[in-house]
Amino acid sequence: MSATLIDGKGFAASVREKVATHVARLKDEHGITPGLAVVLVGEDPARQVYVRNKGKQTVEVGMNSIEHKLNADTPEDVLLDLIATLNADPEVHGILVQLPFPGHLDEDLVINSIDPAKDVDGFHFSNVGLLSTGQRSIVPCTPLGCLMMLRAHHGSLSGLDAVVIGRSNIVGKPMANLLLGDSCTVTIAHSRTKDLTEVVRRADIVVAAVGRPEMIPGDWIKPGPTVIDVGINRIDAPEKGDGKTRLVGDCDFARFSGFAGAITPVSGGVGPMTIACPLANTVTACRRANGLAEPDGLTA
Ligand code: GUN
Repeated sequence: MSATLIDGKGFAASVREKVATHVARLKDEHGITPGLAVVLVGEDPARQVYVRNKGKQTVEVGMNSIEHKLNADTPEDVLLDLIATLNADPEVHGILVQLPFPGHLDEDLVINSIDPAKDVDGFHFSNVGLLSTGQRSIVPCTPLGCLMMLRAHHGSLSGLDAVVIGRSNIVGKPMANLLLGDSCTVTIAHSRTKDLTEVVRRADIVVAAVGRPEMIPGDWIKPGPTVIDVGINRIDAPEKGDGKTRLVGDCDFARFSGFAGAITPVSGGVGPMTIACPLANTVTACRRANGLAEPDGLTA
């Protein structure tokens, strides 16, 4: 069997098109331009590129992009003051503080200081609680992107066995809640799971989000499941020359391709959706803030 590739890049482009259409309507019909504020603390080059790409795509879909780059040693109260200012700014509909933070900052305190209605990451405890009780919330971007791709590929997910590998607040836990919401039978596996091979073998859907390069061998799965590889890991690639690197997922892609029914590649899979979904959530937040109906095709 050779797996179908799930085209996250194309899918993200279609999400951005929908976002752009909504933005144009908000401007034309209501005189509102959605605004997304992104806060980056520190100088990590990979995060800087990510934030720059987010800003570029925010502008491309017609929204206002507000970027705040703070030094790595920014005191916590300065960051909290900035968030309070963004919370109070009516032109800002979405706020995203790039994680992880430098160690002196209390991640929970900072995240929970964001107005939940503007929390386009869906990390505030009230959004987490709303999602896990099946109420309307803002849904974390990476799991939202994975869910959109799974729904597009499968249609209904009802009754499918889904195994989420990884229990992070950013991906694993919200992903499990979303799959449960779509009536999957969900298992969350993690580093202490006994007999992970057996757990993975029964899956119709595997979502791998452990952040360890090619940790999951392809022959763990039964023939045919859909595999969403959230991992983006940089490893040495001596075959490409001295000092060269390449990106790999959490799954051993070459071997998985022989067993899976469908799989997201690393580069062009989940990654592009992690930039498109904050834009979608900003439109959602903006429409809600203005008492407008939910945007078609952009929410869970
Ligand atoms: N770092 C890795 N993933 C994410 C994400 O989805 N949101 C934020 N804010 N930071 C991240």
